[in-house]
Amino acid sequence: MSDLDQLKSDLVAAINAATSLDMLEEVRLHALGKKGVISAQLKTLGSLEPDQRKQVGQDVNTLKEDITQLIADRHTDLSAAAMKAKLSDEALDVSLPARPSLGDGRMHPLSRTIEEITAIFADMGFAIAEGPDIETDFYNFTALNIPPEHPARQEHDTFYLTPDETGTRPVLRTHTSPVQVRTMMKQDPPVRIIVPGRTYRSDHDATHSPMFHQCEGLVIGDGIHMGHLKGCLIDFCRSFFGVDDLPVRFRPSFFPFTEPSAEVDIGCSREGGGLKIGAGDDWLEILGSGMVHPKVLANCGYDPEKVQGFAFGMGVERLAMLKYGIPDLRTFYDTDLRWLKHYGFVPVDVPALHTGLHDGAAS
Ligand code: PHE
Repeated sequence: MSDLDQLKSDLVAAINAATSLDMLEEVRLHALGKKGVISAQLKTLGSLEPDQRKQVGQDVNTLKEDITQLIADRHTDLSAAAMKAKLSDEALDVSLPARPSLGDGRMHPLSRTIEEITAIFADMGFAIAEGPDIETDFYNFTALNIPPEHPARQEHDTFYLTPDETGTRPVLRTHTSPVQVRTMMKQDPPVRIIVPGRTYRSDHDATHSPMFHQCEGLVIGDGIHMGHLKGCLIDFCRSFFGVDDLPVRFRPSFFPFTEPSAEVDIGCSREGGGLKIGAGDDWLEILGSGMVHPKVLANCGYDPEKVQGFAFGMGVERLAMLKYGIPDLRTFYDTDLRWLKHYGFVPVDVPALHTGLHDGAAS
């Protein structure tokens, strides 16, 4: 057997003995690499006689081509085998019992309540407006006819932030009413907006949280009067609680930014310790409202002789507690999954805003 034949049979044996792609790569380098055995053969050609050189040169090149082909074939086989092994290792055992599911998520009752409130007003043609949580004194108080030293400022238990360069203290808005001002200063009448958002007051017990939510409403236009306010809010209360003949009462009240002002109560019964909405002859206060004060209209650049309108504001937590029977306001923010599972909503159940609210019932 010639040297080349011997070399070939050694290399073929090594290729067949390679059982992994890594081993095969070693063989390839050993045979075909720059410093490999076949290159070494080619380098010896220079020292041969010309007639020998031609023959040996051809033989070495044939060997090189054969070995290259054999390595390629072996590579294909080993890759297929590796893939097969991987697939069988990772095969799913469909007979295994399923892992316990974490369950579907639930929509927080506050998000749900905000959806419901805004959907009812969207059906009445209101647009949603929003404003910043950190407000200036002007938007939160002064423009709303609550000048410095006004006692209403104390009642709001305001959180003040560090004064800015001009020495004025930004506030965490104590109500959503500053968005009324922002909207009127930005656009001409008519206005019809509903404003859901977070509000802040330094107060904490079973019915108060330092952060809570309100929904504000504002309607401005030609000839808007108290009758519009009443009709709009009666419709809202009946739709929200799903009681067609729900008694609704307007009780004179005071807010610096509305004149006249009215608190809105709904009929209920407290007999036997439980609260029943829409039955009995008791009353429950659920929102504040009034005709926008002429001074507020003027502060926002509107002419109170030409346009007027009404505004209202409601606490979202309070409405959610009443509608869904949630006894303690603090539990809204405890992030307790068991609570959410009980009081939360399956998200698919939520009506899309643009289609309005068709089903006000809890799931
Ligand atoms: N901003 C009032 C509050 O926080 C609610 C309100 C809004 C009353 C608009 C009248 C008109 O109590």
